[in-house]
Amino acid sequence: MARYTVTGGAGFIGSHLSEELLRRGHVVRIADNFSTGKRANIDAALRHAIGDGAADAAARLEVVEGDLADLDVARRATADADFVLHQAAIPSVPRSVKDPITSNRANIDATLNVLVAARDAGVTRVIFAGSSSEYGDTPTLPKHEGMPTNPLSPYALQKVVGEQYLQLFTRLYGLETVSIRYFNVFGPRQDPGSPYSGVISLFIKALLAGEGPTIHGDGGQTRDFTYVANVVDGVLRACEAPAASGEAINVATEGRVSLNELLARLQQIIGTEVTAVHGPPRVGDVRDSQASIEKARRLLGYTPIVPFDEGLRRTVQWFRDGSPTA
Ligand code: UD1
Repeated sequence: MARYTVTGGAGFIGSHLSEELLRRGHVVRIADNFSTGKRANIDAALRHAIGDGAADAAARLEVVEGDLADLDVARRATADADFVLHQAAIPSVPRSVKDPITSNRANIDATLNVLVAARDAGVTRVIFAGSSSEYGDTPTLPKHEGMPTNPLSPYALQKVVGEQYLQLFTRLYGLETVSIRYFNVFGPRQDPGSPYSGVISLFIKALLAGEGPTIHGDGGQTRDFTYVANVVDGVLRACEAPAASGEAINVATEGRVSLNELLARLQQIIGTEVTAVHGPPRVGDVRDSQASIEKARRLLGYTPIVPFDEGLRRTVQWFRDGSPTA
């Protein structure tokens, strides 16, 4: 049993991490300011862990409410922790283009505070939510960690800076850190409630309502869509993997699906035939994204456990059940 702090634990990915940690018998402290995170996500994580046999999960869970851009909150969040999974962020490319100052505060100021607090608290290892957007547009596919970063949006730049802060803390202070670069994560509990939401959640919501989803541009852009269980597995491996400290590591499925293809597969699963509405391409958008996961295989022993199609089916089922808190 170890002590984990999950920042952003009331969010989509953070709640899945918390759920799995509770399932495995660990002590979990969620730190969240509930700006986009929801108590319902924590309740769902708890319910699932208990349903899977972790009867004492509630006794092992603590919630710290506050903004990590405040150093005192970061200190409360990381006190006594063995591992810190820093997932708290404002995770949207277009939102960062519209309001770079707010996303800078959440994505850089808060990250620096978490690192300082973790260092002072003697935390064993910090895992950071990195992003495929750090690569920007590159002619080379798949994208591997040896390639230079090329941020095209404030969000992408903030993720690069966060990651570099981690590596600096490893070099300067010996704090073990790992940045896991996520590639378009999707799954249950992804909130479709804002125009900034992930495209899969928005498409499913539209199709289930019998409405045509919006495609920005020609729909030929591609993504390595990654089901959330794969990310949970990759992050938890990164806590333990001896050679991972100081590294940035892609976690994805190694696939590449266009938005047009995504829409066709969802229409098939849901059994609808609605026509998409095409809008102008989005500013700051990356054209193609596909990960090499060779480094994750080598350093983490990672291999995707839920393929894209199966992940889509599970996600549609969750939306169909009509239980946004499940
Ligand atoms: C980017 C990052 C990802 C990051 C995420 C945070 C890349 C390659 N990926 O995802 O690592 O975690 O931001 O938000 O940069 N789209 C539509 N219609 C919609 C919504 C989106 O066509 O209603 C399109 C977008 O223009 C984009 C694609 O779908 O081409 C995916 O968009 P989205 O789900 O927002 O994620 P990214 O911006 O790719």
